[in-house]
Parts: sequence; C-alpha cells; structure tokens
Amino acid sequence: MSKVIAFAGKGGVGKTTVAALVIRHLSKNGKMPVLAVDADPNSNLGETLGIDVTTTIGDIRENFMRDPQGVPSGMDKANYLELLVEQALIEKPAFDLLVMGRQEGQGCYCMVNNILNNFTERLMKNYRYMVVDNEAGMEHLSRRTSGQVDTLYLVTDYSLRGLRALRRINEMLLSLKLKVEDSGIIVTRAPETLNEAFLAEVEEIGLPIVGIIPDDHSLLDFDMEKRSLMELPEDSPAVAAVERIMAETCPA
Ligand SMILES: Nc1ncnc2c1ncn2[C@@H]1O[C@H](COP(=O)(O)OP(=O)(O)OP(=O)(O)O)[C@@H](O)[C@H]1O
Ligand SMILES: [Mg+2]
Repeated sequence: MSKVIAFAGKGGVGKTTVAALVIRHLSKNGKMPVLAVDADPNSNLGETLGIDVTTTIGDIRENFMRDPQGVPSGMDKANYLELLVEQALIEKPAFDLLVMGRQEGQGCYCMVNNILNNFTERLMKNYRYMVVDNEAGMEHLSRRTSGQVDTLYLVTDYSLRGLRALRRINEMLLSLKLKVEDSGIIVTRAPETLNEAFLAEVEEIGLPIVGIIPDDHSLLDFDMEKRSLMELPEDSPAVAAVERIMAETCPA
C-alpha cells in the first residue's frame, strides 16, 4: 500500500511549492516509486516540477462524454477509459505524475467517474508514496469517500488568517469519512522565532508545528524563470527546511 501525503491550506500559502519539494526529497532519497497527483483544477504542480502537461483526467472524462460511442471496436468502455488514463500518466525517472484537471460538470457522469476512480485507486497501489497537491480549501479531499491520508500537512503563511483557515479545515476533517492518520502544521515564509499571538492560536488548534520554511528568494526566481524546483540547489533554505521536516515526520 502506498503512503499518502497530502496538503491543505488557504490559497497562495505555498502548498504546491512544499508538495514539489516533498516529491524532490522522496526521489532524491530513493524513497520510490513516487506518484505525484495534481488535484488542483488550476493545475500547476507539473509546471513547478518542470513538466508540460497535455492530458488530464478531466479531459478524458469530457472527451468521453462528448463522444461515448467513440470506443474502438473490440474494446469495452472500462478498458478504453483505463487505457486513456495510462496514456495520461506522465512517467519520469524521478516520479510519475497524474493531473486530475477540471472537476466534473453538469449531468450524470457516474459510470465514467466510477471507472476512473476505481482505476486510479488501483494505480496508486503500485507506488510507495503518493503525494497529492490540493486546491485551496478541501473540495477534493472532502469528495474522496474512501481511502485514507497518512500524513496531512496543513500549510499556512505567517498570518493569523492563514491559521484560522487551518482551524476550519481541521474541524471539517473531523466530520469527513476520510481517515487522516497524522497531521501537522507547516509555516511558510516565517522567521525562525514565531511570535506569541501566532503560537497561542496554534495551541488552540491543537496540532503540532512540524516545520518552518523561511522566505526563500530562489523560489520566486525559479517561479519567474519557469524552472523546475527539482533543480534548486541543495543549500537553498526552502530545500533544507523540507529535508528537516521529512527527516522528522517521514523517516522511511
Ligand atoms: N517559502 C517561500 N519563500 C518565498 N516564496 C515562496 C515560498 N513559498 C511559496 N512561495 C511563492 O509563493 C507563490 C505561491 O506559492 P504556491 O503556488 O506554492 O502556493 P499554493 O498554496 O499552492 O497556491 P494555490 O492555493 O493558488 O494553489 C509562488 O510564487 C511561490 O514561488
Ligand atoms: Mg497550489
């Protein structure tokens, strides 16, 4: 069974960046195979990892619904859809990437969704780690009716507003069927020492801070230059911070 690592938090706090650095850590430390899942409809995990994404699961669903009779002769619908998902899986030496794309639109897509969900769940079993980058909020996680998340990193910037979003997410988790084994807070763009008001709010949430990622200019530079975070130097402050977080929270 793969170990599922997921991220949640307010918009723009650094979820995708941390997800990419976690994928980098896993592959550079031989914790493989890794499946990266971009579950944000405005997908950009691929870009962050230096990959051009051409097909998403959402595209496969839409195309199929537009032309349900387009199944090649001699194949059933399920086999055909599974073949398309296999083709959409981007395989790289360091990790594989699956991009979920747009969520389902209007109308009943039940049969197609069931086939796609079953197949992706089966596919996930082939990996030691699965790293899921979510959109802001909990839309995707809350739609998942089965399965579990082994480690959920709740990501916030150094603001009380970011922390309040985490508190709401954490409360919502309690009402979901989704089983979360372990969760902890990652604070991004923060100084080494956090102030008392911030720490008091963390205390009320009742989850540990598992890491602090400093403001790292190289991240912005790489973003602007559309360079993969896999190429960041080892001594970049953000890379070093994620290495520490992973050593403590995900040793194997
Ligand atoms: N520690 C950091 N230091 C400097 N810049 C950072 C840091 N973390 C993230 N950034 C920058 O902040 C911007 C937003 O980061 P990112 O896309 O990872 O956030 P997000 O939470 O995934 O956003 P969204 O909710 O839109 O998906 C990016 O330009 C990224 O390079
Ligand atoms: Mg993101």
